Amino acid sequence: MDTYLVTGGAGFIGSNFIHYMLKKYDDIKVINLDKLTYAGNLENLKSLNENSNYTFVEGDICDSNIVNDLFQKYDIDFVVNFAAESHVDRSILEPEVFIRTNVLGTVILLNAAKSAWSDGNNFKIGKKYIQISTDEVYGSLGKTGYFKENTPLCPHSPYSSSKASADLMVKAYYDTYKMPVNITRCSNNYGPYQFPEKLIPLIINNCLNKSELPVYGDGLNIRDWLYVEDHCKAIDMVINKGKLGQVYNIGGHNERTNIHIVKTIISYIHDKVDSLVTEDLIKYVQDRKGHDRRYGIDPSKIKTELGWYPETKFEDGIVKTIEWYLQNNDWMESVTSGNYQKYYKEMYS
Ligand code: NAD
Ligand code: TYD
Repeated sequence: MDTYLVTGGAGFIGSNFIHYMLKKYDDIKVINLDKLTYAGNLENLKSLNENSNYTFVEGDICDSNIVNDLFQKYDIDFVVNFAAESHVDRSILEPEVFIRTNVLGTVILLNAAKSAWSDGNNFKIGKKYIQISTDEVYGSLGKTGYFKENTPLCPHSPYSSSKASADLMVKAYYDTYKMPVNITRCSNNYGPYQFPEKLIPLIINNCLNKSELPVYGDGLNIRDWLYVEDHCKAIDMVINKGKLGQVYNIGGHNERTNIHIVKTIISYIHDKVDSLVTEDLIKYVQDRKGHDRRYGIDPSKIKTELGWYPETKFEDGIVKTIEWYLQNNDWMESVTSGNYQKYYKEMYS
């Protein structure tokens, strides 16, 4: 029975990944280590409370005592590190915590795994550390071209710089100690359980409240959208079939401008929920500092080597996503209580 240490599993992608894995395999154990920051929410996992293959541990990946204790207590086979400060706008306001969690936290996890898995020379067979990274480490594209795994790292925001730094530490553990690792770099995810600081759930939530829809700059920045379940499938393949030391880009050629995303959401909610939701709610606001213009992934390596392909077309994924938020209004209310209003006011007024 393989044991997975999933970090940041109470966040958006981590919780989707835990659901995906426990649904697919009934012979694995998942330990979820999460600090429960503003972005972590146990509501995302409440259906697993009775599942004996799932254990939640509240704690910080920067706390080496907690992390080492988990390696003592469990025979961990895979570490999948999702834990991070993940929002670019927050990183512009407050970079320090991004360095702490994203860089230092990664090194603490690497060290703990190395101590548990290595006798000083060789690593036990069947163990692997997977770093969940981002295409933002490559920087920004012009009108043409795609990010490949060998595209030079050129991050711009404090967030992407912290993720690139973490990637370099993971690479250093492979190059120096031959630690078994993989790094995955995906494009923008969307789907259930995403905190409404990110574009898609923020726009859905604001449409439902008939509040202004903030669009940065000219609205023509491009992101390459990946349905979160397709991402989870890719991570599972990398864990099980990825060649040691390799980086895999994950994305499905779903490039859209931000304004297209916003208008798509408005149109669906206008037709299905409330005809008062119209494009009049759009408000062009000051651009993000250092705003990357375009991201676009070349996924040919993961397609050819591991046989992964994205199953969800953007037009279907966005409908499933909006429907999920419509049916889970309680979830939205719960995550937007507390400090969310304060954050929103500071960010958007
Ligand atoms: P998220 O912000 O929704 O969740 C992050 C989780 O990490 C939360 O549960 C939070 O409580 C936890 N966490 C934060 N600091 C911690 C710490 N010090 N110790 C333990 N837990 C801590 O993030 P997400 O969108 O699910 O992203 C997951 C990973 O995927 C991140 O590493 C992110 O960089 C990467 N990623 C995300 C996207 C995206 O579109 N969301 C795209 C590319 C890469
Ligand atoms: P976001 O969801 O924050 O992801 P990332 O910055 O990591 O790509 O933003 C996606 C795009 O949407 C990005 O170009 C910024 C833009 N955006 C807005 O126009 N308005 C908003 O309120 C937000 C949160 C983002």
